[in-house]
Amino acid sequence: MGNNNQRIQGKVALVTGGASGLGLAIASLMVQQGGAVIITDIAADQGRLAAEQTGAEFMAQDVSDEARWREVLSHIFEKYGRLDILVNNAGISGDGLATDPETTTLDEWQKIQRINSDSVFLGCKYAIDYMRKSGGGSIINMSSIAALVATPFITSYGASKAAVRQLTMSVALHCAKNSSRVRCNSVHPGQIRTPMLESLFEEAASQMNVPLDMVVQGFLERIPLGEFGTAEDIAYMVLFLASEESKHITGGQFVVDGGMQLNG
Ligand SMILES: NC(=O)c1ccc[n+]([C@@H]2O[C@H](COP(=O)([O-])OP(=O)(O)OC[C@H]3O[C@@H](n4cnc5c(N)ncnc54)[C@H](O)[C@@H]3O)[C@@H](O)[C@H]2O)c1
Repeated sequence: MGNNNQRIQGKVALVTGGASGLGLAIASLMVQQGGAVIITDIAADQGRLAAEQTGAEFMAQDVSDEARWREVLSHIFEKYGRLDILVNNAGISGDGLATDPETTTLDEWQKIQRINSDSVFLGCKYAIDYMRKSGGGSIINMSSIAALVATPFITSYGASKAAVRQLTMSVALHCAKNSSRVRCNSVHPGQIRTPMLESLFEEAASQMNVPLDMVVQGFLERIPLGEFGTAEDIAYMVLFLASEESKHITGGQFVVDGGMQLNG
């Protein structure tokens, strides 16, 4: 598979939500491994900074905007002449409104589906043909362990991530049957200490009226390996799925959770 430090040499990768957290770590590792990386994010200033730090290109994008998906992908194809990797990573947990099935409003439900799930559909829908024209490609959809267990405290989020998982299987089979050499897999992080998880901790502490430390300890106790994951733990999984090392893998679900799922 070539040089160990150049696992995606010559490949062109788009990483959405690349200004922060997991997306930033993924973009950074992909640049180190020889990829030409385009970061997109709705947070433009932070995205530009992330691009400068990592050596990626930045484009502003709201992933729920269909027209912008067409513009971003056509810009990339024109400029780089190919698209090999799409990481549908951008997502939200819910504006401090993490709620149960009775208190979730329809507005909140729809907003989360739009940003976490409609966006992944749009990314897949428009990227497949560019990848086919590039001779194949790898789509990696960021789902969550929340897709695989009940999440009554973040109802809309869990449902949006389950939709991403199911869509991944349909995209994978569609692409395989159309001989496009496009693969599609989903990654399911457990609890990784990014800005998203920090705000979930803060919200839980304020809802339960307990100190933040106690909430963090409670989350930690649910991870059998005894520590939170790092953004790099997820980035290495994504890199594997993006590289030719995983060329026989499509439609798969890759859980990176320190064993959380074992607790049910
Ligand atoms: N951190 C975890 O523990 C964890 C666990 C499971 C899944 N995930 C998933 O991983 C992905 C990344 O999460 P993170 O923890 O790095 O969160 P984060 O909040 O640090 O990063 C998310 C990025 O997405 C961007 N974004 C939000 N809405 C957008 C939109 N409409 N268009 C474009 N960009 C937008 C944000 O500006 C931010 O830069 C998300 O899909 C999240 O659901 C995270």
